[in-house]
Amino acid sequence: MVRLTYYGHSCFLIEGGGKKVLIDPYVTGNPLSPIKSTELSPDHIIVTHGHGDHLGDTVEIAKSSGATVISNFEIASYVEKQGCKMHPLHIGGAAKFDFGTAKLTIAHHGSCLPDGSYGGNPAGVLLEIAGKRVYHAGDTALFYDMKLIGRRKVDAALLPIGDNFTMGPEDALEAVKLIEPAVVVPMHYDTFDIVKQDPEAFKASVEKETKSSCVILKPGESYELS
Ligand code: NI
Ligand code: MN
Repeated sequence: MVRLTYYGHSCFLIEGGGKKVLIDPYVTGNPLSPIKSTELSPDHIIVTHGHGDHLGDTVEIAKSSGATVISNFEIASYVEKQGCKMHPLHIGGAAKFDFGTAKLTIAHHGSCLPDGSYGGNPAGVLLEIAGKRVYHAGDTALFYDMKLIGRRKVDAALLPIGDNFTMGPEDALEAVKLIEPAVVVPMHYDTFDIVKQDPEAFKASVEKETKSSCVILKPGESYELS
């Protein structure tokens, strides 16, 4: 069993096989966050790109929990300089960890770090954990190669729908058609006025036009992939 818990924006805790993987822990300053960063104790933290609403509290949580940060080489080096354990990956590369496998995928976006330094290319991540495949798209535009990501069955796709900085609902619906996941969970919306969306309308369009089911998680809610 794999449990996905949503903490608002693009932050998810993914638990499986007794391990906890936290993705894009934007907690402090996240108006939707139902928790404090001190309540999180992951084994690994995956950072899709360097923007503050994704890197978030990574350094603080990694130091307090001892979690290893998995990200591209540039971001991994950045957090290592601040005293974190890290494992560098890059786009297209996968590695095995105690929870399973993580592979960075392409994402069409930007990625500078909070101090203005170069964050490398932004990414999404494809996780294999406890027999499930979970795709977190990071911040991205729609791209046709999502078709390849879905070529092997994706159990859950976590897709941005906020528009403005990422795909909006229409392009996210196209992404669902390319990936054909069993379940899609919308993210990166409603955090700020500029990314306000109607997730119920998105869910209705997904379930009308695809075979995927759409699960809307409120911050703090979980969903189990069984
Ligand atoms: Ni971003
Ligand atoms: Mn973002």
